[in-house]
Amino acid sequence: MGISFYVRFRHLFIVVVFVATIVVFQCYWKTFSLLNVSSFIGNNVTFEKEEQGLDLDHVFDSDEGRNSRKGEIFSSSSSKSFEVENHENEILSFTQKTLHNYTQKVASDGSGIQSIEIVSQNGIPWLPKTSLPSLNNKSMTSSSSWMSKLVRPRPTTLTQLNSQLLQSYNYSSMRPKWSSRCDRELLSAKLEIENAKVISNSSGLYAPVYRQVSKFSRSYELMERKLKVYIYREGEKPIFHQPKMRGLYASEGWFMKLMEGNNRFIVKDPKKAHLFYLPFSSQILRANLSDNKKMEQYLERYVNLIARKYSFWNRTGGTDHFLVACHDWASRITVQPMKSCIRSLCNANVAKGFQIGKDTTLPVTYIHSVMNPLIKIAAKPPSERTMLAFFAGGMHGYLRPILLKHWEKKEPDMKIFGQMARDAEGKRLYMDYMNSSKYCICARGYEVHSPRIVEAIFSECVPVIISDNYVPPFFEVLNWEAFSVFVRERDVPNLRNILLSISEEKYLALHLGVKKVQQHFLWHKVPVKYDLFHMILHSIWNNRLAQIILQ
Ligand SMILES: *[C@@H]1O[C@H](CO)[C@@H](O)[C@H](O)[C@H]1NC(C)=O
Ligand SMILES: *[C@@H]1O[C@H](CO)[C@@H](O)[C@H](O)[C@H]1NC(C)=O
Ligand SMILES: *[C@@H]1O[C@H](CO)[C@@H](O)[C@H](O)[C@H]1NC(C)=O
Ligand SMILES: *[C@@H]1O[C@H](CO)[C@@H](O)[C@H](O)[C@H]1NC(C)=O
Ligand SMILES: *[C@@H]1O[C@H](CO)[C@@H](O)[C@H](O)[C@H]1NC(C)=O
Ligand SMILES: *[C@@H]1O[C@H](CO)[C@@H](O)[C@H](O)[C@H]1NC(C)=O
Ligand SMILES: *[C@@H]1O[C@H](CO)[C@@H](O)[C@H](O)[C@H]1NC(C)=O
Ligand SMILES: *[C@@H]1O[C@H](CO)[C@@H](O)[C@H](O)[C@H]1NC(C)=O
Repeated sequence: MGISFYVRFRHLFIVVVFVATIVVFQCYWKTFSLLNVSSFIGNNVTFEKEEQGLDLDHVFDSDEGRNSRKGEIFSSSSSKSFEVENHENEILSFTQKTLHNYTQKVASDGSGIQSIEIVSQNGIPWLPKTSLPSLNNKSMTSSSSWMSKLVRPRPTTLTQLNSQLLQSYNYSSMRPKWSSRCDRELLSAKLEIENAKVISNSSGLYAPVYRQVSKFSRSYELMERKLKVYIYREGEKPIFHQPKMRGLYASEGWFMKLMEGNNRFIVKDPKKAHLFYLPFSSQILRANLSDNKKMEQYLERYVNLIARKYSFWNRTGGTDHFLVACHDWASRITVQPMKSCIRSLCNANVAKGFQIGKDTTLPVTYIHSVMNPLIKIAAKPPSERTMLAFFAGGMHGYLRPILLKHWEKKEPDMKIFGQMARDAEGKRLYMDYMNSSKYCICARGYEVHSPRIVEAIFSECVPVIISDNYVPPFFEVLNWEAFSVFVRERDVPNLRNILLSISEEKYLALHLGVKKVQQHFLWHKVPVKYDLFHMILHSIWNNRLAQIILQ
């Protein structure tokens, strides 16, 4: 009943909302234009009513990266070699020949869950101390490099990601040009965290899903008590200071909105700040300037502006500055102008310049309704989950066709589909499958990230991440192996065996872990302890602490 009503009146509703928006806008135009950004800081967060109600336009399943392809392959002058390489690679992958070659190679290979395997080193992502801005040669070299010869980046195993994280703690960022009280405060917090007492039951947190629950708990408490953030007021709307709250890239908008409206962490005096936020929307930047060279230059001009106007950037070379950006392209357009900053990125690909320990992964959350950002789903208990695995989605990138080739209509307990219908029925089916499967396959699309991971967590379906080189969210603090499964891309042909080899006991533990991490992936209009907003900020704080050195 609700749906047919909706369909019938949707267009009328959109028109009404549009007219209302214009009227409201006209009324308040003068007022708004007189206010400067600072007057919004410290106010409570308000949410525009008019965004509500349009949310059913999207199917629950989403096609990440859909908008980012256009023109990319052909804008040769501005593309870095490693990106061109990847897209040529994607195109080739679609040809039968490559698919055949690839699967042949795979078939001759053993099976195994990624984390168990140890593969020879893939190169250290970090260079010591002062050379922080330089990146892994393999991912960043010029077009003459072997990488441009259509070779897919070598996969990085979870074991390697873990050791890269540990190694990153041995490197530190640029030595500040002069000392500050804030740095000393951070250093004392760091010592307190390192000496945190080991307690098995920290503030009700479920220890198995964390790397070190005591340290996390202590670090989080200290962040709440001490962290101060300054938000630059410079930067024009709509690219700066204008959060976009719906859709696939909404994470960056939600963070911006909640950060700018926050009273606890924000300081108006930048001298009191430990961290500096560069408040732009990569999604609007992308919509406004479609060429990636122009986007890069735009951000470069911004950095020059704040570096000339204030002394903070120059003091640390930007290492205490951060950005939060979800668009696929954000990673590449910030890698030069904001290379020393802590980057919270959805597209967290270690083969494309993401630096574990400095950069941090922003979860992709597909927001359908601003008023109700998360559909709280009643989920079936493990005993009622009769399917082994589920996937549905568009054939983006090279991996999904391989997944379907091996598993579409092959086994009754493997529900592997292409794009589902975008109507209400398709959506219901999608939800049903997530509700009745033990494992939900999160296969990379054009890029490594996918909203499926968070969708699976909400559906209490254990995520199976098939995306080599992806660093999962909050990798610094969460022990992902306690609530998800990592399968290498080349092990897709063994997917079913890998999942069947997980014992019922282990599955139940993973399922429990999924329930226990749900709180970290929830948006709240007024942020609450341990929610997504705080976790994103905590990872940034964590990485600043990890790299800080005194003058
Ligand atoms: C913000 O909201 C809280 C509770 O909703 C209220 O107690 C507080 O006074 C508000 N602050 C401002 C600045 O409006
Ligand atoms: C596939 O393999 C054959 C030989 O096994 C080789 O000649 C051909 O170049 C390969 N194709 C691709 C696209 O790698
Ligand atoms: C990076 O590559 C260049 C040329 O390919 C080489 O001269 C340089 O030593 C490499 N740097 C590192 C750190 O490997
Ligand atoms: C980090 O440095 C310490 C001491 O300098 C050393 O014992 C440790 O093995 C290093 N860790 C890594 C991962 O390189
Ligand atoms: C851990 O703490 C929570 C609340 O602080 C409590 O409910 C729970 O029983 C404790 N668990 C153990 C094993 O002590
Ligand atoms: C980009 O933003 C600027 C400033 O807000 C605006 O003047 C311009 O029209 C926008 N361009 C596009 C293509 O949206
Ligand atoms: C920071 O450094 C840049 C380049 O070295 C310089 O142009 C700028 O004036 C400096 N900013 C301040 C505030 O001194
Ligand atoms: C999942 O299944 C349970 C039990 O059958 C049901 O109550 C719940 O509404 C379902 N959730 C969704 C999202 O379909």
